[in-house]
Amino acid sequence: MNDQKKGFVDVLVGLQWGDEGKGKNIDDLLLSKVYSGVARFQGGANAGHTLNSAGVSFIGHIIPSGCLHQDMELYIGSEVVVDVISLVKEIKELKEKGFDIAPRLYISNRAKLVSYMHSYLDLADEAYRSNTGSKIGTTARGIGPAYSDSRARRGLLIGDVMFADFDDKVEKLSLFHNNLLKLYKEEYGFEIATDKIEESKKNWIEAIEELKKMNICDLSYLIHERLESGKNILAEGAQGLMLDIDFGDYPNVTSSNTLPANMCLGLGIPHSYIRNIYGVMKAYTTKVGGGNFPARIKDEAVEKLFQDAGHEFGATTGRPRMCGWLDLFALEYAIKLSGVNKVFINKSDICPTDKVKVVTGYIKDGKNTPEFPLRLAEITDVVTEDLPGWGQENFGVTDKSKISPELKTYMEYVENKLKNLGAEIVSVGTGPSREHTIDWNK
Ligand code: GDP
Ligand code: IMO
Ligand code: MG
Repeated sequence: MNDQKKGFVDVLVGLQWGDEGKGKNIDDLLLSKVYSGVARFQGGANAGHTLNSAGVSFIGHIIPSGCLHQDMELYIGSEVVVDVISLVKEIKELKEKGFDIAPRLYISNRAKLVSYMHSYLDLADEAYRSNTGSKIGTTARGIGPAYSDSRARRGLLIGDVMFADFDDKVEKLSLFHNNLLKLYKEEYGFEIATDKIEESKKNWIEAIEELKKMNICDLSYLIHERLESGKNILAEGAQGLMLDIDFGDYPNVTSSNTLPANMCLGLGIPHSYIRNIYGVMKAYTTKVGGGNFPARIKDEAVEKLFQDAGHEFGATTGRPRMCGWLDLFALEYAIKLSGVNKVFINKSDICPTDKVKVVTGYIKDGKNTPEFPLRLAEITDVVTEDLPGWGQENFGVTDKSKISPELKTYMEYVENKLKNLGAEIVSVGTGPSREHTIDWNK
């Protein structure tokens, strides 16, 4: 732990394949008044973080989930790929809801700028992959192409908008992108109408003008200053640990590191500032997009029951989420990789079946595998245990002693598993609002 006089950073990440309820738990944690700012450190507008509090609903794609707290500073770090059109749209939407966040939003000049061509390249790449049967099912927010350009050192940085050569850089990159699109057209027949691209360019240039008026800074210096003056920061992960580009089921992953280790790179601070690493999970599992999902509920009708009861439709794309049983094998892997020590469990109000399963192992080559595999496609079956369903009557319960006996059994089972991994339950969510929470240790 760092010097006692200094502030600390708590990190919050999703423990599954995304949409665990991270936005709600960030928003809820801020009520403790421990933090003075919330930072997004990776990902882009592929995220969809739902906030429901004090009668206000908001889905943040790029804006950090502290936006509904009037005094909270909001930071966007250098590992984020910034969709400037989404950014401007969300700032406007928040202003209409009574939250003028522009003065308290700080964007790293080292963050990556998503260009108006990236979402088209994302679509083009997906069309190409469809032909080869390996579609990822991306959010089409240009995430892969934006990170590719960044790593290939031809991308645009947020801070570039302040330099005289910005237009020149945009033209050079656009030329490169046009050539790529030509290739996709000639080789794979994928085409985007020129007037559509022109319209996107126009909207993007307008948004860039808005961006120029925002607080663009060397965020690392600002964060260091806040921490050195004793202020604490909550760092918000996007996506989920199972979508990490290095440790997930490549290539069915997102294009950034979702592990808390990436927080240090996104904010430009050493790991010694980290205090707690919070993990968010649901009482079952969901996944949106392509790729393998070993814990997926095999009976389609049962899967549909969870999808409907849990309103499992993507907050960014509206796509139905695949539903699976709680996957303890994947959870163990995620906790080991991340060092999560405190856990939020959401959706304990959702259980439309009398019995549930939990996945405790993966079968590969006819045997229980001790390791999370490089390719999930190798997993032919899963090992499960049966537990009683806990019913739908726990909606809105805030008192631990009032939950159904079956939910108590289920949570105690999960609690024991987590304890063996060095993590404890902090709270259990019984509904979408921040008020629908059981403080598990009370
Ligand atoms: P995030 O991406 O991790 O922030 O999660 P999303 O916002 O994409 O998806 C979580 C969804 O579950 C949202 O619609 C939330 O309002 C909702 N939600 C969060 N916690 C609970 C809960 O405990 N019960 C129920 N029924 N809904 C919840
Ligand atoms: P939040 O932060 C769930 C998934 C996509 C796709 C894969 C790659 O709301 O939890 P990308 O657009 O990143 O190139 O898509 O990752 N994905 C998410 N799934 N929640 C998210 O974010 C996601 N962000 C990306 O569905 O399978
Ligand atoms: Mg989401």
